[in-house]
Amino acid sequence: METLSKASALSRRQLLLGGGAFALATLAPHLSRAAPHSILRATPHTSQILPGDWPATPTWAYSAQNPGPVLRVKQGERLRVMLQNDLDQPTTVHWHGLRIPHAMDGVPDITQAPVQPGGNFLYDFTAPDAGTYWYHPHVNSSEQVGRGLHGALIVEERNPPKVDRDLVWVLDDWRLNRDGSIRDDFQRGMDISHGGRSGNLVTVNGRMPEALQVRKNERIRLRLINVANARIFGLNFENHDAHVIAIDGQPVTPHKPGDDVVLLAPGQRADVILDCTAEAGSSHRIIDAVYQDEATVLQNIVYADGAPVRESVPGPAPTLAPNPLAEPDLNSAEHHDIIISGGAMGTMQGAVYKGKYLPLDELIQDIRIWALNGVAAHTTAMAPMLNFALGKSHIVTVKNETVFPHPMHMHGHSFRILSQDGAPAPHTPWADTVLLNGRGTAQIALIADNPGDWLFHCHVLAHVQGGMTSVIRVA
Ligand code: C2O
Ligand code: CU
Repeated sequence: METLSKASALSRRQLLLGGGAFALATLAPHLSRAAPHSILRATPHTSQILPGDWPATPTWAYSAQNPGPVLRVKQGERLRVMLQNDLDQPTTVHWHGLRIPHAMDGVPDITQAPVQPGGNFLYDFTAPDAGTYWYHPHVNSSEQVGRGLHGALIVEERNPPKVDRDLVWVLDDWRLNRDGSIRDDFQRGMDISHGGRSGNLVTVNGRMPEALQVRKNERIRLRLINVANARIFGLNFENHDAHVIAIDGQPVTPHKPGDDVVLLAPGQRADVILDCTAEAGSSHRIIDAVYQDEATVLQNIVYADGAPVRESVPGPAPTLAPNPLAEPDLNSAEHHDIIISGGAMGTMQGAVYKGKYLPLDELIQDIRIWALNGVAAHTTAMAPMLNFALGKSHIVTVKNETVFPHPMHMHGHSFRILSQDGAPAPHTPWADTVLLNGRGTAQIALIADNPGDWLFHCHVLAHVQGGMTSVIRVA
């Protein structure tokens, strides 16, 4: 990341030529010294994704890093990030999970014009909620995210809980050829119509995972972020009690996850407290166990020999202070339905596409075979699927009539997950992405307190390509 301090070593002339409004702003004397400024430069890059004796991988990257730089701000602090587009196609940055003003949301043709090659855009907002978030493009996302454009955004609590280490793990997978290059089959109909584009190499922070070296009685906060195009991760920490303390950035009652598996669909995050209570010198596996037929070891937890860092772990997992979210009133809430249809092996007969109803066999020719409330999207600039009265409580029942799971993400808001598949959701967590099981249902609730046209879409990015995007208008 090129920080301001580094940039200010450049000559005044370079700054003025390079950054337009941003350069001028950085020279203005009245800016608070604490305000974080960064430049994210989207460029082609080369990364050693495969182990060292394999070829390197040509990727796309923010500021020559895969994943992009970890951006950190304090809760309530202003973040200013200049996107510089040095790709040969338009792009934007979306701040996934952040409840920020519409104009900063990074959705092409709704919140801003796409940033053309050679162009730039200044994102400038205040982070309202502490937690673990991430950023990624919202143009041609399947390819841009799939080639490596994504990074973590950490909003630190005003009083962070005491831990020995705070680690960010960006979980991803890549579809690579033997020569290290990324397979450029981003238009593959099979992926779009089925479970999305999953890779053949899983990485943590852009590398094949190495062992997590720990010491006895250490307390680690793991911030897990699933940036993969389609892969769902389900992590089991063998012989350890991992406690989830936040979901999608938002604090939740500390708890052991169901079946001891931290489940993360694309777009989702979890903050986990890992207390290292096993014996010095021992080794344990972190097992990725979502896909039963291919349970794999993500990496090992390896204990150093020798004395523990303290006599025992420091008591129960900490409860994070709540973020300033308004609680929906379930009694007065308006009710809405969203129906997901389409995909392979589905029952969808047809959908409205470009304003006109088309039967399935015609939709298939454009590989637009997913629909939300009967509409297959061809662009983000759509008529709203639902209208939410500003300041009011809303309950949405999402019904998945397809056989595939879909992590459904809403922009601009967090919502409470009330129930899934008819059963109350444990801890009714706040979230920005809810995983619908195949033929499953979910009920979510929120106060629509952020005005604008907000995307509601699947975070399996090939499904977005296949039409699974919609707009909810809050006004
Ligand atoms: Cu992370 Cu609209 O998405
Ligand atoms: Cu989907």
